[in-house]
Amino acid sequence: MNFELTEEQKAVRDAARDFAHNVLKSGVIERDTHQRFPKEEVEQLGELGFMGMMVDPEYGGSGMDTVSYVLAMEEISKIDASTSVCMSVNNSLVCWGLEAYGTEVQKNTYLKPLASGKKIGAFCLSEPEAGSDATSQRTSAIDMGDHYLLNGTKNWITNGGSASTYLVMAQTDAEAGHKGINCLIVERGMEGFIVGAKEDKLGIRGSDTHTLMFQDVKVPKANRLGPDGFGFKFAMKTLSGGRIGIAAQALGIASGAYELALAYSKERKAFGKPIHQHQAISFKLADMATQIEAARLLCLKAAQLKDRGENYDYASSMAKLYASKVAMDVTVEAVQVHGGYGYVKEYHVERLMRDAKITQIYEGTSEVQKIVISRELLKD
Ligand code: CAA
Repeated sequence: MNFELTEEQKAVRDAARDFAHNVLKSGVIERDTHQRFPKEEVEQLGELGFMGMMVDPEYGGSGMDTVSYVLAMEEISKIDASTSVCMSVNNSLVCWGLEAYGTEVQKNTYLKPLASGKKIGAFCLSEPEAGSDATSQRTSAIDMGDHYLLNGTKNWITNGGSASTYLVMAQTDAEAGHKGINCLIVERGMEGFIVGAKEDKLGIRGSDTHTLMFQDVKVPKANRLGPDGFGFKFAMKTLSGGRIGIAAQALGIASGAYELALAYSKERKAFGKPIHQHQAISFKLADMATQIEAARLLCLKAAQLKDRGENYDYASSMAKLYASKVAMDVTVEAVQVHGGYGYVKEYHVERLMRDAKITQIYEGTSEVQKIVISRELLKD
């Protein structure tokens, strides 16, 4: 595989890096402390074309490739993983799903404002009793002829309080199991749709994570995405691409922490010399850099497969599994390199360590990625 970047990909990476440093960095600690959603910052990301990066310009997107998306996600996540998860869900889960399976009317109505960053989307699969076991959907969408009657609760929904458009998975025919699940496009403001409590989280505290309730919400039939019963496969296909985005987020969290640790190790002196001149530190840096490079190559491989139109389910799970572990390992070591300073907010690495953990949980836990990978390895 050729991992050489094109001039266009480098320009996207540099623009994302500039935005992260010039716009996101100054307020990131305050947003984390007060759990403040980066509303204005996300609007600016939209204006730069980062909220619908891979969508055809015909539908308001930027028409870029997945490699560019990985590069941008890494740069944004180095500085602010709360902003990058909002970006990732909008790009990979909502815009991609609408572009791949939406009707022309659905694309014009819902995709255009999402891809151009004028509105934000959310992807609603998880429930109180359906996390990893995603086929066990309790939310119901009863077929009423010209509409579905939607009832149920969705948990841990990223962008839950800020979105305008929600892709909601719900069970229409319980006897048909996963083949009876549909994906419905639900609009903010539909009667009976209630945005519930905001979660008080360990990490990615600037992101907006809510419980959502649906009480007899009438969703027009025209808002079903794909054919009847396609909702579970839709969710799985969409999450395969989403996992590339979260892998890139994990990569960014790791590389952000590494860059901070490297810089600190050159400034801080102990026992008469900068600490990077002690092998206790330089060996840590060597391990961190090696892990990050391996994670980056897995992310780029998955992205390239997607860009070439090849199957990327297995590669995206591998990238997410490995990059999220690297994010945890590297951020813990980055705090250690900083010593006592690493434990206080001002030095950023404690936040990156807290942010890293969610990358092993959302869009499929590490255990779910191992199910996907091992099934591929063991198939006949
Ligand atoms: N593409 C297309 N079809 C797929 C597929 C894929 N990638 N993966 C599975 N399917 C199909 C299967 O072929 C099967 O279809 P058939 O019966 O017709 O053969 C069907 O879907 C059921 O698949 P499985 O038998 O593999 O289902 P399973 O119950 O064994 O579950 C699982 C497999 C991998 C554990 C899956 O349930 C899963 O991924 N769970 C995790 C869900 C998840 O990631 N949730 C995250 C929520 S979203 C989020 O976090 C976003 C956010 O806010 C940040």
